[in-house]
Amino acid sequence: MNDPRPANWNDLTAEGDVNLSPLRRAWEAEHVEGATRELLDADSEYFLHQSLSTPCFNALAASDGIWLTDVAGRRIMDFHGNNVHQVGYRHPHVVAAVKRALDTLPFSPRRFTNAAAVELAAKLASLARGTLSKVLFAPSGALAIGMAMKLARVATGRHKTLSMWDSFHGASLDAISIGGEAAFRRNMGPLLPGAEHAPPCDPGSCPFRCGERCALRCAEYVEYVLDREGDIGAVIVETVRSTDVQVPPPDYYRIIRHACDRNGTLLIFDEIPICLGRTGTMFAFEHYDILPDMVVMGKGLGGAVFPMAALIARRDLDVAADRALGHYTHEKSSIGCAAALATLDVIENEGLLEKSRSQGAAALQRLRQLKDSHPVIADVRGIGMLFGVELARGGRPAPEVAERMMYASLARGLSFKVGQGNVLTLSPPLTIAPDDLDRALDILDAALTEVEGLAVLR
Ligand SMILES: Cc1ncc(COP(=O)(O)O)c(C=O)c1O
Repeated sequence: MNDPRPANWNDLTAEGDVNLSPLRRAWEAEHVEGATRELLDADSEYFLHQSLSTPCFNALAASDGIWLTDVAGRRIMDFHGNNVHQVGYRHPHVVAAVKRALDTLPFSPRRFTNAAAVELAAKLASLARGTLSKVLFAPSGALAIGMAMKLARVATGRHKTLSMWDSFHGASLDAISIGGEAAFRRNMGPLLPGAEHAPPCDPGSCPFRCGERCALRCAEYVEYVLDREGDIGAVIVETVRSTDVQVPPPDYYRIIRHACDRNGTLLIFDEIPICLGRTGTMFAFEHYDILPDMVVMGKGLGGAVFPMAALIARRDLDVAADRALGHYTHEKSSIGCAAALATLDVIENEGLLEKSRSQGAAALQRLRQLKDSHPVIADVRGIGMLFGVELARGGRPAPEVAERMMYASLARGLSFKVGQGNVLTLSPPLTIAPDDLDRALDILDAALTEVEGLAVLR
């Protein structure tokens, strides 16, 4: 089969942008000096270097709403935010709730409960629908994924999992075992036994080559593996993939749900970056007419303040009373729970789900117009306030253009993620004002014009 991707594709397609590239150094040479340089050098001196963080390329002094302010005083619209910022930074309602918790109960030792934790668990159970009503908290998404994997083992008596190539579920060893990105897995083995993988619902990397529209061969493949193996404990999947914005067609999860039911396999949705309104609904699975057996949320749950994640499971999966599934020191964090409750208030009070749908639809339309005037855009896709702009040249993915786009946009005050090497992934805070969203798309337009005009890319 003729693979259109470059030979070094795995090096180019990390979960985020690559921090060792020559373009990164060129950007720093032009934009970094003085106090920022000193901080970056100290960061590099004291932190272990790793892909996707240290060495960093800029240093921050403050954040507010959609804005980051760097040490040099430049303001940057944050359409990346590691997906923690559905309600923006320093939302006053969230900050006030956290301050109250700091002044009353800053830590809740694990053998006690507290009112904020109970209220949050009840609230999440009421939002998640159906029998998804038993909750466990953790201080990171990867840890919550690990709890889901453990619960699946206890509940089914099976250790095998099926997850997707290219997926990301966190950076811990159990999470990279089910994850599918080479940058995390390469030379890290042996990983967990029984962690099987299937092709994702992603036309870009789909080996079935269904064409422009997904013909659901990917879902049928999952069905085939489940039926054939017969002993897979759980299918774990990002409902909508946030790194490169892959939105499976409506029947995808219906097929997988039926196959799971037929085989006694649990269906676990990882909604860590995309719940809480990112896709226009509280949970992304609401776009599909099925329920998972467990859903994992995180990131924005802590209101862009506190590390906070949650596993929500079917009530009858409360079967591990004699085992420790999580046992994390900050499990029922009174601060994290206060931040999460305040975040949910903001989403409700400010109508952020409806705003995500309506403002998102308008922005998607504008991005589609950009596609008409910029030949380097191969595809534009989106759901709610999550957008992917896929770049290609001569019919091949164009990671070199995507990286230049990132720096050209940063220089104009817009930060976003680059997913799978060639997808500009835009996740603005849901609180963004329409004018600011327009301004960000103007920046994208101008950066595209600049990059398309570069002699080096002709
Ligand atoms: C889909 C998905 N799952 C899990 C995680 C891991 O979350 P955390 O970094 O809080 O461990 C992430 C983080 O980027 C993610 O995007």
